[in-house]
Amino acid sequence: MSADSRSPLVVTIDGPAASGKSSTAQMVAARLRMRHLDSGMIYRSVTAARLRGGDAPEHWTEQSVLDAATRVSLAPGATSFAPRLDGEDCEAEIRGEAVTGLVSLVAKMPHVRAWVNALVRATAAAYEIVVDGRDMGTAVFPDARLKVWLVAAPDERARRRILQRMGREPTVRELAAEAAELEARDRKDREQTQPAADAVWIDTTGITQVEQVERIVGMAEGMR
Ligand code: CDP
Repeated sequence: MSADSRSPLVVTIDGPAASGKSSTAQMVAARLRMRHLDSGMIYRSVTAARLRGGDAPEHWTEQSVLDAATRVSLAPGATSFAPRLDGEDCEAEIRGEAVTGLVSLVAKMPHVRAWVNALVRATAAAYEIVVDGRDMGTAVFPDARLKVWLVAAPDERARRRILQRMGREPTVRELAAEAAELEARDRKDREQTQPAADAVWIDTTGITQVEQVERIVGMAEGMR
């Protein structure tokens, strides 16, 4: 298939929790003058919207989550998209523990996945995007010109997540707790977290972020 007959330039970066997808996607997008879209942010925003209902998650029907999703939107910025809930920025709310603990439940709902995927595809029709998530290269953009699958060792993923959240190196106990949390979420997300057959695998454990970004940018530039 020639490049021109394919979808608009979309680069997908998928992988398990805290494998470095979002920060890598953001830097790749900046280098390629594309916009970064974090699909996990949309699942998190839908979860935050439903959480505002105040009732226990046992009562969250799929329809009630879909109703909550209609209050979520994306505000395009110069380099990325900001999540909006009821028209207001919800970035801080969606990174909290309450949302992180429930997002996998919401992400299991097939109609919610279809809703998120439609929003991601509509965004890609309007903007050139580098999109990160779990299934961007499989379910959402099977024709993407470049698909990356990022992996990293569990302890390294936990260390990075704590560095990001607390701005310092973790203690041994914090590291073990975070690695357990990430592995539990990976188990819940396993079904939708699969590499595309044609994805390029990058193990980021032993390389710097600059190196991984350079590799992806190099491949993407060859495809433009
Ligand atoms: O950054 P991290 O890998 O911790 O998670 P995220 O990208 O913010 O995604 C949060 C959650 O959304 C995941 O744990 C999945 O349950 C869900 N998700 C998904 O199911 N499919 C995607 N394409 C992206 C996220």
